[in-house]
Amino acid sequence: MGGKALDGRLSCIAAMVPAGGTAVDVGSDHGRLIAHLVQSGRVQRGIATDINPGPLEKTRALLRREGLTGRVDALLTDGLTGVEPHGVATVIIAGMGGELIFDILSAWPHRKTPGITWLLQPMTKAPHLRRSLWEAGFALEEERCCYAGGRGYTVLRVGYAGAPQLYLPWQPYVGGLVPRTPRDAAFLGQYRRRLLAVADARERSAGPTPNTAALREAARQLDLLLHPGAQSWGTS
Ligand SMILES: C[S@@+](CC[C@H](N)C(=O)[O-])C[C@H]1O[C@@H](n2cnc3c(N)ncnc32)[C@H](O)[C@@H]1O
Repeated sequence: MGGKALDGRLSCIAAMVPAGGTAVDVGSDHGRLIAHLVQSGRVQRGIATDINPGPLEKTRALLRREGLTGRVDALLTDGLTGVEPHGVATVIIAGMGGELIFDILSAWPHRKTPGITWLLQPMTKAPHLRRSLWEAGFALEEERCCYAGGRGYTVLRVGYAGAPQLYLPWQPYVGGLVPRTPRDAAFLGQYRRRLLAVADARERSAGPTPNTAALREAARQLDLLLHPGAQSWGTS
């Protein structure tokens, strides 16, 4: 296979793509992910979109080099604008902020089409993304930690569930994160310490609030995931 190899973050996303159908890669930029998915036979066809001509041209150049222009359509468009849902099995929105990812998803009139798997990889604001998805009726089916360039990321697999999903105030901070490997445990331990540092800082300036209680409960839940045998029994 030609093209530059996928890094850990993109390989992790690729491994979560269900086999078959058409995959849409929104904000395809270098084009490596969609080229890999089609070339490896993981999906039958691809659609790559990008809002900027420069990045889209990078995708088109890679598709030409790899002889994939007949199997991947490259569209200069905002998000999913103009993408028809027929045959679409997977939509990937990766490498953008959580707010932009949700804006792109919620602007697509076909977002409630049954059976579409959404793979979302926020660079920032993952709690906002989880909260917005649940309120919009999307269920979080799986979440995986992945790594590239010494940084940890999270990839959410979600599907439209038909009704808003109830959640507790701490849940947007934890979502479906679970430590599967020692590296995940180190990453989640670091994240847990960051949640507590944010709670401490906010309480120093404004005192305890419902938000700082949610952050502390999220840290406690992460602690239970990281040390499952160590919880102490309460007295009530
Ligand atoms: C940081 S790159 C991420 C590239 C790739 N998805 C990845 O994860 O490696 C973000 C890309 O998204 C594109 N982008 C930003 N906003 C967009 C939008 N509303 N619709 C489509 N593409 C967008 C940018 O032009 C850029 O190519």
